[in-house]
Amino acid sequence: MPWTRRHLLTIEELSLAEIDQIHATAAAFKKILGRNVKKVPALRGKTIVNLFLEPSTRTRMAFDMAAKRLSADVISLDGASSSTTKGETLRDTAQNIQALNADLIVLRHAASGSPLYLSRILNIPVVNAGDGAHEHPTQGLLDTFTMRERLGDLRGRKVTILGDILFSRVARSNIHALTKMGAAVTLCGPSTLVPGWFTDLGVTVSHDLKSALADAEVVMLLRIQHERQSAGHFPSLGEYTSMFGLNKTRASWLHPKAIIMHPGPINRGVEIDSELADGERSVILEQVTNGIAVRMAVLYLCFGGQPESVAVVD
Ligand code: CP
Repeated sequence: MPWTRRHLLTIEELSLAEIDQIHATAAAFKKILGRNVKKVPALRGKTIVNLFLEPSTRTRMAFDMAAKRLSADVISLDGASSSTTKGETLRDTAQNIQALNADLIVLRHAASGSPLYLSRILNIPVVNAGDGAHEHPTQGLLDTFTMRERLGDLRGRKVTILGDILFSRVARSNIHALTKMGAAVTLCGPSTLVPGWFTDLGVTVSHDLKSALADAEVVMLLRIQHERQSAGHFPSLGEYTSMFGLNKTRASWLHPKAIIMHPGPINRGVEIDSELADGERSVILEQVTNGIAVRMAVLYLCFGGQPESVAVVD
């Protein structure tokens, strides 16, 4: 099946076959990244603009790196140094970037749906790098890519996502990816942050940490998204940690070969203890590394590349 999408806006809209295609393309690029010469000419002559109107370390740098590895020219613009601080709208900002002959925009924005909005008014591809509490599709793709590398087929595997699910775009993208891939997903955290209606997405909701962690082969920690919360959803961070923080005792409830994941940034000592974040079961930095190959795949495909063509791009 040929790849036909110009934009990457959500995982919700992707089929399992499309997720497989992105992962296969990322695996091919990961091999290239292991060579002495890591750069391929696939996007030579293209200009990619990373428009990050919310803070980022991993996503922005990985998109930057991915574009450079594909030989594209890349320009990054953040909110603080852009004319959005003078009142310019997202629409005007994006149309000016297009008028400057950019060939693709990667957008991070606090408003859910903003990448979809740009995809409807621009003539160039748009890639969602995180929109509000809605989706963070490349994070979900790199997380599931990492799980597949470690566990193989995810059908029937118990994956527990623990923390602030309600305000997490990472949770939503992972839920969509994992349920399409056949994983058994459990969401856990305080009931204020993990409401029961999430079961509509085909997952199990639990407020009992021990049963949520029992025999899970993957646990993904999520930080508290203070920037999106307008009210207190639990009494204090200390009380959150005492109820739901992952520590050594609680990690012993997991499957013996379980991996520990976190999209970052980590709040050490809140949602996860340092000894686990840095321990041998942690794949947190592998996730970051895989983010480059996955974003290379997404950029390559959105520019019309085909998964089977990666072998001949260098
Ligand atoms: N995981 C993630 O989106 O991290 P950044 O906010 O640093 O990009």
